[in-house]
Amino acid sequence: MKLWSSRFEKNTAALTDELNASIGFDCRLYRQDILGSLAHCAMLRKTGIITGEDAEKIIRGLNEILADMVSGALTFGQDAEDVHMAIEGELTRRIGKAGGRLHTARSRNDQVALDLRLYLKEEITTIRTMALALLEALADIAAQNLDTVMPAYTHLQRAQPTTFAHVAMAYANMLRRDILRLEDCLERMDECPLGSGAATSTTYPIDRAFVAEALGFARVTQNSMDAVSDRDFSIELMSDLSILMMHLSRFSEEIILWCSWEFRFAELDDAYSTGSSIMPQKKNPDIAELVRGKTGRIYGDLITLLTVMKGLPLAYNKDMQEDKEPVFDACDTVKKCLPVFTDMLLTMKLLPENMRRAAAGGFINATDCADYLTKRGLPFREAYGVVGALVKACSREGKTLETLTLEEYRQVSPLFESDIFDAISLERCVGARRVPGGPAPESVLEQIAYIRSFISERTQD
Ligand code: ARG
Repeated sequence: MKLWSSRFEKNTAALTDELNASIGFDCRLYRQDILGSLAHCAMLRKTGIITGEDAEKIIRGLNEILADMVSGALTFGQDAEDVHMAIEGELTRRIGKAGGRLHTARSRNDQVALDLRLYLKEEITTIRTMALALLEALADIAAQNLDTVMPAYTHLQRAQPTTFAHVAMAYANMLRRDILRLEDCLERMDECPLGSGAATSTTYPIDRAFVAEALGFARVTQNSMDAVSDRDFSIELMSDLSILMMHLSRFSEEIILWCSWEFRFAELDDAYSTGSSIMPQKKNPDIAELVRGKTGRIYGDLITLLTVMKGLPLAYNKDMQEDKEPVFDACDTVKKCLPVFTDMLLTMKLLPENMRRAAAGGFINATDCADYLTKRGLPFREAYGVVGALVKACSREGKTLETLTLEEYRQVSPLFESDIFDAISLERCVGARRVPGGPAPESVLEQIAYIRSFISERTQD
C-alpha cells in the first residue's frame, strides 16, 4: 500500500506505477537520504517537535537500514516508488509508529532537493580530484619536453614553431579553468534546502541552521519556493562538465591526429589502444575517440535538463524527477573518462624527431624571417611582402628558407646578413619567444610553476 493512499478510492494502474517509479535510478541516493533524515530527526528532537524516545528509535532504525543497504541485505523493488518512500516505509516496518514521525515538517520536495545536492557535492569533489591528477600529469609531461620542438598550427596548417611543453600547458590552462568552474559550482551549491517543505516551508519551530551545519552545508537556501524547484546546481554542473569534456575532446582529436601515419608525432601504449578485427596492422586510438564521442553524450545530458526545466511554473513539478538520470550519467561518464585519459597520456610515447621534421618544413619560420628585416628597420608590412615573395620563389624551386644561399637572400633585400640563418633556426624561433605565455623554455617553466602551485594549494591539507 502507498504511504499516500488514504485519499484515494482505487489503486494506481500498473502502468502508472511503472512510469511514476524512480526507485530504479534514485536508489543510489540512499546514503544521502538517510544522512538527511538523521540530521532532520536530530533537529526535530532538539526543538522538541518529537520526543527523545521516538528520536532514538528512528535513529537506530535508520542506521540499521543504512547498514543493510550498504551490505546489500536490503534492496527495493519498483513498488517502493522512490528512495524516500522506500526508506520511510522500511523504517516504519522496522520500528512501528515512531517511524511515522520522521516526516514531520518535511516534504519529499525539500528531501529530494537535499539528497541531490549532497550527492553532487561529493561528485564534484571526486571529479575535481581526478582533474587535478590530469593537471599534474600535464605539468610533468611539459617539464620533460621543454625542448621538444614541434609545429604550432593555425587552420591545421603549420604556422610557427613551438614545443610539446607549450602545447601541454595550453591544455593545462583549460583544465585549470575547468577546476575553478567546478569549485565555483560547489560553492554556489553549498546551501541546505531542508525546511522548505512542499513549497512554503512549515509552521513547526524548526532549526534550519542546525540541519545545515550537521550536514556540512555553508548556509541555508533563501526562499522555500525557489529551493524546492531549483535545479540550477545540476544544470550548472553539467555545463561545467560539458566544457571540461569539450577540452578533453579537443585534446583527443589532437592525439588521434598525432597518432596517424600522416603525422606520426606520438604512439599510444598498447594498453590504451585497440586492434581491428580484419586489418592486422591496425592500432586504433579508441580511448581518445570514445572520450571525444562521450562528449556529445554530456552535452545531451545538459540539454535534457535545460529542456525539462524550461516550462515549469513554481514550485515542484513531477517533471523534475527527470533531473537525476542525466546528471548521474554526466558524472559517471566524466569519472570514467578522466582517469583513463590521464593514464593514456602518461604512457603515450612521443616521437620528437618526427615533430621536429614537421617543424623544419612548411616555412614555419617565415614570421621570424620577416621579424629579422623588421628589426633592421624595415616596416613589418614591407618585410612581410619580401618574405612572402621569397616563400613563393622557394615553393616554385623546391627550396626552403634554410637552404637559400645568402646571395639569394640579398637579391631580395640588402638587409640580410649571414646571421639570418641563425635567426631562422628552430631553436632561435622558439627560444626568442620568451614573453610571458610564450614557448621559450624559461616561459614555459614559469607556466609550469604557476600550475604546480595551483595544484599544491589544493592538495596540501
Ligand atoms: N521522486 C521524486 C523526484 O525525484 C521525489 C519528489 C516527489 N515529490 C512529489 N511531490 N511527488 O522528484
